[in-house]
Amino acid sequence: MLDGKRVLLVVSGGIAAYKTPELVRRLKEKGARVRCVLTAGGAEFVTPLALAAVSEDKVYDKLFSLTDESEMGHIRLSREADVVLVAPATAHILAKMAAGLADDLATTALLATDKPILAAPAMNVRMWDNPATQHNIKTLVERGVGFIGPEEGDMACGEWGMGRMAEPDAIVAAVDEFFRQGRAQGAVRSAAAGRNLPLSGTRALVTSGPTYEAIDPVRYIANRSSGKQGHAIAGALARLGSQTTLVSGPSHQPDPPGVQVVRVESARDMLKACKGALPVDVAVCAAAVADWRAETVAKEKIKKSGKARTPQLKLVENPDVLAALSAPGNLRPRLVIGFAAGTENVVENAVAKRAAKGCDWMVANDVSPENGVLAGDSNTVHLITAGGVEDWPRLSKTAVAERLAARVAAALRAS
Ligand SMILES: Cc1cc2nc3c(=O)[nH]c(=O)nc-3n(C[C@H](O)[C@H](O)[C@H](O)COP(=O)(O)O)c2cc1C
Repeated sequence: MLDGKRVLLVVSGGIAAYKTPELVRRLKEKGARVRCVLTAGGAEFVTPLALAAVSEDKVYDKLFSLTDESEMGHIRLSREADVVLVAPATAHILAKMAAGLADDLATTALLATDKPILAAPAMNVRMWDNPATQHNIKTLVERGVGFIGPEEGDMACGEWGMGRMAEPDAIVAAVDEFFRQGRAQGAVRSAAAGRNLPLSGTRALVTSGPTYEAIDPVRYIANRSSGKQGHAIAGALARLGSQTTLVSGPSHQPDPPGVQVVRVESARDMLKACKGALPVDVAVCAAAVADWRAETVAKEKIKKSGKARTPQLKLVENPDVLAALSAPGNLRPRLVIGFAAGTENVVENAVAKRAAKGCDWMVANDVSPENGVLAGDSNTVHLITAGGVEDWPRLSKTAVAERLAARVAAALRAS
C-alpha cells in the first residue's frame, strides 16, 4: 500500500531520533519515497548524512537557504508529499504545531502543508503527562492530526511510563493503515488510546444520524436527525480509551477524532455495517433509523406528467437495528443502549420500548419542535435502566455524551 507514496519525514530533537534511519529504511522497503526535514534539535541526535544516505535524497534543515529555496521552496517541500510524518515528535514541536508557530523549516512546512499529518510523539513521561502537552495533543487531534503511540515502557532517561516512541515497524504499519483507510483519524491510534483510561481495552459501536430510504434515484424519505448527539457519544467513548466505530447515516457532523467512521445511507446498510463492527463491549444506538422504507424503489426518476395519477407510496417495515443488536447470542454486546425520541409520553414509551427491544438501557428524549433538540446543541434526557428512571438536567449534547460515557465505563467495569 505504500508503493510510490511520498512521505515527508520531519525529525525533531528527541533521543528517539536515532531510530529514524531505521524508520526510513522500513518505509522504503514498503515502497515509499521518503524525504527528510531535520530540526536543529533533531540534528543533535541523528546526522543529516545518515538520513541522506538511507533516504537517497537531500536532507532539508534550513529555512533561510537561498539554494534550497530556489531548488525546492519550503511551500513546495510541504506539498510534494502524500503525508507528513513527524517522528519523533517532541513536546516542543507539538507545542509549536498547536500554536501555529513557524520559526524553522520543519514547523513552517507543517504549517504550510495541505497534506494529512501523522505524529509519533516521544518524550519523558512527565513531559507527556504535563497538562500543557496534553492540551496541545487534544488541540491537534481536534484539527485532524493522527497520532501513532506513544507507548508505555522504559525511557532513555531511566524513568518508566508513557512517552516512548512507537517502534519503527509499528509506525510503518500505522502509515500503511492510514493509506488504506484514507484519512488520519480512526486510521491510527489516537494519542489517548495507549493510556490507562477508563475504557482502555474495550470496543464500542455507536450509530448516529438519520437514514435515507430511497424512493427513486433522486428522492428519499429522511428525518431531521443531525447526528450531533451520536457523534458526541462516539467522541466521548473514544476519549475514555474505547476503540470506537461510528456507523453514521448522512450527517454534516465532522468525524470525531480517534473514531473509525463508517458512512451508510439506509437502515439496511446501517444494520449490515453494525453487524460488521461486532464484537463490541458496548453498542449505543443513537441513530434515528427510519421505521419504514418504500416497498419498491423506482429505477428511473418518477415523472410528474400532467395526466398521471399522483404516485402512491407503499411502505414496508425496516429492519430494527437496536432489536437486532440486543438479541441474545454470542455476539451480543455486554451493554446495549437505545435512544427513544418522542413527542408525547416520552418516558412511558421509552420504558415500554426498552422491554420490547431487549436492550439494557434506554435514553429517552423529547424531540418536540419547541425543544429544539433535533438540530440544537442541548438535550434533556431520561436514562432508563433496570434500576429505574433517572431524569438528567438540560445539558449540552457533549455533556450528555460525557455523562453517558462515564456511566458506560462504570457499568463495564462492574460487569
Ligand atoms: C539528551 C536530550 C534528550 C532529549 N530528548 C527529548 C525527547 O525525547 N522528547 C522531547 O520532547 N524532548 C527531548 N529533549 C528536549 C528537546 O531536544 C528540546 O525541547 C528541543 O528544543 C526540541 O526542539 P525541536 O522540537 O525543534 O527539535 C531532549 C533534550 C536532550 C538534551
